[in-house]
Amino acid sequence: MTHDKFLKTDIYLEEKLLKRASDPVFVLDRQKELDIPPMAVSPLQGAFLKILAESIGASRILELGTLAGYSTIWLARALPENGKLISLELFERNVRIAREHVAEEGLSHLVDIRGGEAEISLNIMLNDGEAPFDLIFLDADKVNYPLYLERIMGLVRRGTLIIADNVVRNGDVSEANSEDPSTCGVRTFFNMVEADNRLEASALQTVGSKGHDGFAVIRVVR
Ligand code: DHB
Ligand code: MG
Repeated sequence: MTHDKFLKTDIYLEEKLLKRASDPVFVLDRQKELDIPPMAVSPLQGAFLKILAESIGASRILELGTLAGYSTIWLARALPENGKLISLELFERNVRIAREHVAEEGLSHLVDIRGGEAEISLNIMLNDGEAPFDLIFLDADKVNYPLYLERIMGLVRRGTLIIADNVVRNGDVSEANSEDPSTCGVRTFFNMVEADNRLEASALQTVGSKGHDGFAVIRVVR
């Protein structure tokens, strides 16, 4: 299969399946206009995240890596009216833009986007004894996935679902000799998951408009 075929299949499935879900695709268009790198989840992946969050009845969601708020909007749509999504974003420009997008969707009352380094925001949350999250979507800089996992483990309960994006990296994740910092970050992350008996995990390779990549699906079991 070629990338063309992945793309064509994604377009077919989006047309078939996402009409009823009213894809907030304006965010992806805006992202492009504003020269924000095309790192958001695909429309089908966004819809998948919403279905997953709704299926587990998530009322508290943590996202690492807001970008322009595309996955944020999908996830927030899964929340009940008393729910909360906290999303962490390094760049203040993205924070401003994402807040606008979330507001346009009428979701501001459910979403709290916090700027600055995720490590600092996570430390504050740990210090404050922030209530545990039902779902955590990890989609920030891959180099720091190990650090984020370590911190996140202080913000979970038994049953929390952790989804980590971009863990396959065009298949590079299986390259033990990789010197790519992102690949090394993901491999260390998997070593930590492997060693942590509180976690049960799987991963799914994906193809589509974002090429060959994948999600890790991790459940806190004890
Ligand atoms: C990159 C990051 C992402 O979160 C993503 O979904 C795709 C690519 C990147 O850093 O290149
Ligand atoms: Mg990603």
